[in-house]
Amino acid sequence: MIHIKPFLDILATSKISILGAVLVTTAIGADAMLIIGELLIFESNPYIGIVAYVLFPGMAAFGLVLIPIGMLLRIRKSHHDPVGKLVRRVSRKHVFRLIFSLTLINFVIFAFVGYRSIHFMESAEFCGLTCHQVMSPEYTVYQRSHHAGISCVECHVGPGVGWLVKSKLDGTRQLAGVVFDNYSRPIQTPIHNLRPADHICGECHSEESYHGNRIKVIERFELDENNTQTFSVVNLRLGEDSDRGDGMRGIHWHSNEHHEIRYWSTDRRREHVVRVELVSKDGETRVWTRPGSENASGEAEQDNGHESMRVMDCVDCHNRATHVFVAPDKAVDALLADGTIDPAIPWIRSIAHEVITREYESHDDAIAGIAELPALYRERFADSWNKYADALEEIVPILQDLHTTYVYPEMKIQWNTYPSLIGHPTAYTAACFRCHDGVLVDEKGLQITNDCNACHYVLAEDEQDPMILRMLEDR
Ligand code: HEC
Ligand code: HEC
Ligand code: HEC
Ligand code: HEC
Ligand code: HEC
Repeated sequence: MIHIKPFLDILATSKISILGAVLVTTAIGADAMLIIGELLIFESNPYIGIVAYVLFPGMAAFGLVLIPIGMLLRIRKSHHDPVGKLVRRVSRKHVFRLIFSLTLINFVIFAFVGYRSIHFMESAEFCGLTCHQVMSPEYTVYQRSHHAGISCVECHVGPGVGWLVKSKLDGTRQLAGVVFDNYSRPIQTPIHNLRPADHICGECHSEESYHGNRIKVIERFELDENNTQTFSVVNLRLGEDSDRGDGMRGIHWHSNEHHEIRYWSTDRRREHVVRVELVSKDGETRVWTRPGSENASGEAEQDNGHESMRVMDCVDCHNRATHVFVAPDKAVDALLADGTIDPAIPWIRSIAHEVITREYESHDDAIAGIAELPALYRERFADSWNKYADALEEIVPILQDLHTTYVYPEMKIQWNTYPSLIGHPTAYTAACFRCHDGVLVDEKGLQITNDCNACHYVLAEDEQDPMILRMLEDR
């Protein structure tokens, strides 16, 4: 038999236990209503989620811990006071039985809520919207990428318990950063403790997914009156079978399993590469160094407090796998190319670029600034304005949307804060040419290749009507 009454009697004599009991009952009661509501009535939403799956369960668990603590303290004190008698009436056996059965019930409740909590905390909405200002840039651009259907944790945590625990610890530290408002703006990249990408990207992408050549057409519009359109066409050599016994040739040669590429850089952004090693499976090593650089010996593991050696993986090229912050020139070119903005409007490429790349203090400030485009246009090109006044008004919201998608003044994310590492050097990153710049040499003086044809066949370069496009489009 389980005797509840004496148990409650002791409970009732301890303030700590009473507090615990109140916490447990209110939390469980309110949470039950919230969860039923969430399952049946309203759509899941991150704020309800936090309360239902983090806050209330935490409160209930805290209350559950308080109850026995209060009772134990009470029992210890009871030898000296009148309540002692009452306490001794309750045999230990009874207390344990009761605690055991209550724990069993709690176990079932917590298993259910815990399962829902984990499920909830792995959702993109939780990661993207909970720390609204902090993650909203990554969440917004991610929703427009090819990986939009994949939850944040598939890349940021990946399979395995060890990484789950590590991510929860990191997450707690980051949450503290948000609460105390001492996180960095913008969030610094590259992320130095990101999990090696082979375990992550490799879960979904096999070698076949990047095998073969891929034709890429780049459309540009000049900053002139006619917004002159040009095309470049390259055939990227993503991956080809190799006759050298090292798996694959071409761009994805770097990440094949026959070797490992290690590189040393002297800055946090890993831009200034001073040494590269190619270590094959059988231990053979080839080394390239940047003449005249310190640390090119590869001995120093740490430099200026930053890790300096890194094993190259997918993310050293695909740093913008899903958080694609497009550069402003490319963003405007894309709108002109697909006709969202009419390229027949004289000077539109130039003036659109001008208004979106001004530095604004906030989103609101940017919206107001971009709204001035028609007035600015009228001032400069009064003749064309007469003809295109309506079209110019329609362009305003398009450019405002573009700006709010890619620029976050509150997080100090400007255009080009997060450049892609794929391609030729720009003002913001040397991209592939961190290593392929023709300066790093091996002991024989041979460079890491910068032969155009190693990476791609160039089929047209900034031409207005390239023959190759006529052939491809069968015109
Ligand atoms: C397809 C894989 C993938 C998914 C899905 C993904 N991320 Fe990322 N994320 C990355 C990679 C790779 C980086 C590292 C970029 C670097 O180090 O330069 C990154 C970087 C970040 C950064 C640092 C800032 C930046 O833009 O580089 C934040 C914040 C972030 N992710 C949040 C999220 C959130 C929130 C979600 C879900 C809404 C998410 N990520 C989903 C791959 C992913
Ligand atoms: C959970 C599965 C999954 C994971 C993990 C994943 N991807 Fe993807 N990836 C996809 C899917 C699905 C597509 C879309 C394919 C399509 O649209 O044809 C895709 C598309 C891509 C593309 C081509 C489209 C584009 O955006 O350029 C690249 C490149 C890519 N992934 C790289 C990566 C990298 C790098 C990582 C690791 C940081 C990664 N992926 C992790 C599933 C995944
Ligand atoms: C961390 C240094 C590093 C970076 C960054 C890097 N590479 Fe390489 N790459 C190498 C090394 C080392 C080799 C081997 C030496 C050689 O072939 O001259 C190589 C070889 C290649 C090859 C020839 C592969 C073969 O089959 O022989 C191609 C193609 C290539 N890289 C393309 C790229 C592209 C494209 C990028 C940017 C998206 C890039 N690399 C970024 C270090 C790098
Ligand atoms: C040396 C740089 C480099 C490395 C390392 C690298 N990639 Fe790529 N990858 C590229 C480039 C460049 C492209 C072509 C991008 C474009 O279309 O502009 C590409 C394209 C892709 C595509 C799209 C193929 C298509 O047909 O569009 C996938 C998927 C992909 N990579 C996955 C991966 C995965 C997974 C890894 C790690 C195992 C990886 N890549 C490592 C440079 C790299
Ligand atoms: C280390 C590899 C590598 C080398 C070497 C290289 N490129 Fe490229 N190049 C790329 C990649 C990767 C892209 C695709 C960029 C993208 O996806 O936007 C590209 C794009 C291009 C484009 C079209 C895009 C544009 O911005 O106009 C042209 C044209 C081009 N390369 C010309 C050349 C020429 C000419 C050479 C030799 C002098 C050369 N490249 C050497 C990797 C390389």
